[in-house]
Amino acid sequence: MIYRYSLRGRGDLTEWRDAARGFLAAGILPNIIEWRTMDDADGLFGFDDNRLPPPDPAHVPLSVPASFVKLAGAVVCHSDPTRFALLYRMLFRILHGRHLMQVATDPDVVAAQRMAKSVGRDYHKMTAFVRFKELPLPEGAVGRRRFISWFEPDHFIIARVAPFFQRRFTDMDWLILTPKGSASWDGETLRTTDDPAEKPDLRDETDELWRTYYSSIFNPARLKVKMMTKEMPKKYWKNLPEAELIPSLIANAEASVIEMGKKAASEPLPFHHRIQEAAANAPVPPRPAAGTLAALKEEARGCTRCDIYCRATQTVFGEGPPDAKVMFVGEQPGDQEDLAGRPFVGPAGKLFSDTLAEVGIDRHSLFVTNAVKHFKYEPRGKRRIHQKPNMGEVRQCRWWLEQEIELVKPKLIVAMGATALFSLTDMRQKLEDVRGEPIAMEDGRIMFVTAHPSYLLRIPDEGRKAEELIRFREDMNKISRLAA
Ligand code: URA
Repeated sequence: MIYRYSLRGRGDLTEWRDAARGFLAAGILPNIIEWRTMDDADGLFGFDDNRLPPPDPAHVPLSVPASFVKLAGAVVCHSDPTRFALLYRMLFRILHGRHLMQVATDPDVVAAQRMAKSVGRDYHKMTAFVRFKELPLPEGAVGRRRFISWFEPDHFIIARVAPFFQRRFTDMDWLILTPKGSASWDGETLRTTDDPAEKPDLRDETDELWRTYYSSIFNPARLKVKMMTKEMPKKYWKNLPEAELIPSLIANAEASVIEMGKKAASEPLPFHHRIQEAAANAPVPPRPAAGTLAALKEEARGCTRCDIYCRATQTVFGEGPPDAKVMFVGEQPGDQEDLAGRPFVGPAGKLFSDTLAEVGIDRHSLFVTNAVKHFKYEPRGKRRIHQKPNMGEVRQCRWWLEQEIELVKPKLIVAMGATALFSLTDMRQKLEDVRGEPIAMEDGRIMFVTAHPSYLLRIPDEGRKAEELIRFREDMNKISRLAA
């Protein structure tokens, strides 16, 4: 006789464990139980012949190794319909005297480990690839910000992964919909449901931000298509706005590498020295009128106020209209800025310019400069690795920044990152304590503090990066309103 048992089969260990205890107490052999779930052809209905009502599981003591409980917790989330039979077989064998969990080559253990691994990968991908979209609050309403997202996991992991999102996104309300159940958080209660959701249309303007970000960090010289598709498997592409860029980025990678080779720091020595030499021998232009930005820039060309100038190619002075209303201050020029002699023209500059454009700020209307005017780096092989300027160097270079401010007379100064904040205030405050709100300065100007775009590009965790990019754009929006 075959015993049959139907489960919802949505990753709930208790559901299977209670049934398994019942069968075990009645001594039912694994090979005569058929486990079904709501995904099987006849689902939870029309499937109860020969069904043995399991005894009250509370009366069946069950002692199994913790390693099995842990493994079973992952395996029940797998979408393979054979998972419950596998787990029951393992349980039965464990309770009949086998040290099964210690036999790493046992086919059941191998199969269960493989399922658990696949569930773990699915969990990890979900934490990386969920893209939240903000839902506007109803007109005039105040309250917590609300976000929604759609994800298509391979397995029934929604209840398993929901606490991760609760921890990560505690201060916003969110809803994650999937075809295998959904989760929501309202600041107090984390709810999960098994019911499959319908895919909503979540396209909006933040998709462009993702594309901007992705094309900023895409490095054609490091392209390894196999690795990339392992990290970001193709099955996720359809729900990732940035993925539509991938085919053309791959197709153009070779040409981009050749182009990069022409300008990059791959030949720093001869290249760098040639520019340095040319800069030193450049005909001296007619002396600009004293007390102008042009005169200050000319003077800064020969700056030796600290030692950074020794290795740098040239001084990278601020640029923009001499009467700009808004001044942006970064940290120091990077590799590409050092070679070009202009601020924010490398990858961080691209993210900066693209975000400005997205919120409708014309970069040409801004005065863009840095706290430190020379590139500080450490040579490593053929590469020049950015080094943070120290406090003494920032203080020395403040001499130039103060004069830039005095001449341009901006009404609003935006400090991007902690170095700019320190240069402008001489205080070592935590960026987060002062970020995102206008601050009145002693001289009557307004200061606004935000993150540095290079910091955003370096965040390794995709989820956090997404959050931070959204915050950066919000800051830019506030700046745009303040400037207006
Ligand atoms: N980072 C900066 O702070 N400034 C630049 O000009 C480029 C990168």
